[in-house]
Amino acid sequence: MSRKTIKIGVFGGHRGRSFIKNFKLMKGVKVVALCESNQEEIDKARELGILDDSIAVYSDFNEFIDCGMDAVVLCNFFHEHAKYAKIALEKKIHVLSETTAAPTLKECVELCQAVEKSHKKYMLAANTSMMPGPNELRNIAKSGVLGQIFYGEAEYLHPWESRPEAVITGGPERYKHWRKHLPRTYYNMHSLGALMEITETLPVKVSGKCVYAPDFCERMAQPFNGDVHSITVSEMDNGAVFTSTGCSSIGPMSKWFRISGENGNAETLRFDQNGVRVDYMKYAIPEELGETGYKLYYPEHAGLNSDIFDEKDNKDFPGVPAGNSGHYGGCDFWIALKFVKYLRNEYTPFFDVYRACALSAAAILSWRSVQNNGKEYDIPDFKNKRSRRKYLKDDASPFPDEFGDFDFEPCSHPDYDLFKNKETTK
Ligand SMILES: NC(=O)c1ccc[n+]([C@@H]2O[C@H](COP(=O)([O-])OP(=O)(O)OC[C@H]3O[C@@H](n4cnc5c(N)ncnc54)[C@H](O)[C@@H]3O)[C@@H](O)[C@H]2O)c1
Repeated sequence: MSRKTIKIGVFGGHRGRSFIKNFKLMKGVKVVALCESNQEEIDKARELGILDDSIAVYSDFNEFIDCGMDAVVLCNFFHEHAKYAKIALEKKIHVLSETTAAPTLKECVELCQAVEKSHKKYMLAANTSMMPGPNELRNIAKSGVLGQIFYGEAEYLHPWESRPEAVITGGPERYKHWRKHLPRTYYNMHSLGALMEITETLPVKVSGKCVYAPDFCERMAQPFNGDVHSITVSEMDNGAVFTSTGCSSIGPMSKWFRISGENGNAETLRFDQNGVRVDYMKYAIPEELGETGYKLYYPEHAGLNSDIFDEKDNKDFPGVPAGNSGHYGGCDFWIALKFVKYLRNEYTPFFDVYRACALSAAAILSWRSVQNNGKEYDIPDFKNKRSRRKYLKDDASPFPDEFGDFDFEPCSHPDYDLFKNKETTK
């Protein structure tokens, strides 16, 4: 796409607010429409000064998607991104999708097919690796100072008490909300996703294990979940092994990452996304560190210290935020910028549709492993048109459909009667 103004539509007003705010900071980019059916979200966006009269508001997706846009940002419900991405791609509209790319293996394959058929651009909005700490781990892995990376760990802890209000309040409808049915392994973009990008690797095999506490879940108004914490073990395409949590409901809030290689170990500081500690093996200590063997430091701003920003960008993006654009280190701004640069053919994102689907498949299959005593599953090769075809029948999902029914893949342990509360959805 040339330097003509890029017209963007945002689908979903809650998370979407952050994208609207950040696109507004960029020259040559215009948010033309928001699709949101919840009036409270629209009012909130207006109240915050994010939504103004230059942005058309629709409550109906079909009207919204036809209003004249080059690209859509999917900030709608977690389990419905592939469904709407396919419609947008069919209409030759580029897609930036929030996590997860697709909730079933069937939809993963269909999404890859839709991207290929459309010849349009697709990117997953994987923002964690643009936080200063994880971004620095990426620089370290790339530089080769740790030698071959053979182990990685990622932790994403997000206790229920800090969940968005809509999930905690909101009447009977709230029981249909995806967060009420989310198996822990499914929200893996902030953990395994970040490790994939840091090390530029893909999972090829996964297994999973969960911590079950159904009574606790029920007390926390999560009657359809049984698990509070999960671990996915992934074998990567370079032979490395990673362990990662999903979105764990134990506290306190944390995103933490470690990569270990032949020459040492690099990790972000716990509870501080901005800092990094690198420990070298004795034989690999760089001369400038002397006897110490490690260094602890705060890297420069993630975006400014990455491959997506250079001096000339200052005039195009005069409002570059130093950390107030949503999430740590302004990483929401950087992900929006990456997408714009991708549309302008100035940047190639790590998370194209194939890697995004591999990440979704790791979520789906490690949950299946949890249900099957830790059995290991192969991640489909989504680039292989022939071998991926067999997954077109694999539509098991733990999420309720639009009527609130969820009779497919359980979102809890098979021994726990999660359906006993089903009447609360009515
Ligand atoms: N990357 C991150 O750091 C991050 C942070 C928060 C949320 N997210 C992602 O953003 C997405 C949205 O999550 P959320 O926290 O905003 O909560 P949410 O899922 O409750 O919000 C979705 C919004 O979309 C609207 N919507 C959905 N379908 C619609 C339809 N057919 N027509 C009109 N409006 C519709 C809903 O009314 C709602 O306001 C999820 O995929 C989540 O994973 C990502």
